[in-house]
Amino acid sequence: MNNQIIANALDKTIATVAEQEFSRLCRGLNGIQVVEQVAKAQDELEKLQGRGSPDYNNEWVALFYITWYQPRQINVALAILRQLYEDTLRKEMEDNYPVEIIDVGCGALSVRFATAIAATEHLHDVISVDGIDPSQPMKRIGETLWSEFRAIIDGQPDLSDLLETWYFMGTCELFDSFDSYLSAYPETLGYNPNRYPTFLLLTIHTVYDSNRLEIQETLQNFRTYRHDCPTFVACYPSKSDIAESVIGGYDSHQRLETRDLPLQGVLPKTTEWREHLLDRLPEGSLGSKEYYLRGKVRWTAPPRTLIYGKERS
Ligand SMILES: C[S@@+](CC[C@H](N)C(=O)[O-])C[C@H]1O[C@@H](n2cnc3c(N)ncnc32)[C@H](O)[C@@H]1O
Repeated sequence: MNNQIIANALDKTIATVAEQEFSRLCRGLNGIQVVEQVAKAQDELEKLQGRGSPDYNNEWVALFYITWYQPRQINVALAILRQLYEDTLRKEMEDNYPVEIIDVGCGALSVRFATAIAATEHLHDVISVDGIDPSQPMKRIGETLWSEFRAIIDGQPDLSDLLETWYFMGTCELFDSFDSYLSAYPETLGYNPNRYPTFLLLTIHTVYDSNRLEIQETLQNFRTYRHDCPTFVACYPSKSDIAESVIGGYDSHQRLETRDLPLQGVLPKTTEWREHLLDRLPEGSLGSKEYYLRGKVRWTAPPRTLIYGKERS
C-alpha cells in the first residue's frame, strides 16, 4: 500500500466526518452560539500546548481535535505499530497468531487506524484493538471516522487488502474504564497464555498531570490481570516525567523524530474544511482565534515523541 493513497483516504474521511459533525452540532443554535462553541473548543485545545487536559467531554472539542491533532496521532501510532511489527510482533505475525492491543486513552481511535494499516502491510489478519477512554465524544467521533473510513476505502482497488483487515477488525470494543473492561471480559482472571492471544498495552499521548494516577492504576491493573503484557507509553518530552512514573520502570526508551514519521505534508481536504468554516461564521466573529482555523493541517508537527517500553518481567 502506498502512503499517499492511505493519507488521501484518511484526509477525506476526516473532512467528511467533520462536515457531518459540524452540521449536527449546529442544529438548534444561532450564529452567535456557534461562534461561542467554536471559540471555546479552540481555548480548550490550546491547553494541549502545555501540560493541561482539554475538556474531552465537549463534542465541539472532539470535532476540532480530529481536524487538527488526529492526523498526527495516527501518524505517530503508525510509526509505533510498524516498529512493533518489526520487533515485538514478528513471531505472532509469521504464525498468524492472534494479537489483542489494549489502547488506554484511545480517544478517536488513532491506534485502531494505524493498526489496520500496519497489520495489512504485514498480512496479519488476527489483530484487534480494544479501547479504554472515559470520553464519550472522543469515542463516538472515532467510531464515526472508522465507519466512514470503510465507505471511503470500499471500491478503491489499491486498498482492497485494507478493507479486508477493516472487516477482520470489526470486533474491536470500547470501554469507559478498566472496571468496565473487566466486567465484559471476566475470563481475563483465568488467563492462560496457551489459550489466549498475545496482549499488548499501549497508551499514546494520553498522560497529563491530572490523570497520571488513574492511568498508572489502569496500566498496573492490566499488567496484573494480563500477566505482564508488553507495555508502551508514548508522550512528548515535556511530559517525560509523567510517562516515566505511569509506566513504573522501563526496559527501552526511544525518540521518534518528526522527519521519521511515515506520512508527511498537508491534508488538503481537512485544511480546506477548516478554512471554509471561517467563511460560514459572521466575519471577524472569532477574533484572534481565526488564526487556529487558518493554519494548514499537517501530518507532522514537532516536538519528537518519546516511547517507553516495558517487557514482561
Ligand atoms: C490527546 S487524546 C489522545 C488520544 C489517543 N491516544 C490518540 O493518540 O489519538 C487523550 C485522551 O486521553 C483520554 N483520557 C483522559 N484521562 C484518561 C484516563 N484516566 N483513562 C483513559 N483515558 C483517559 C481523554 O479522554 C482523551 O481521549
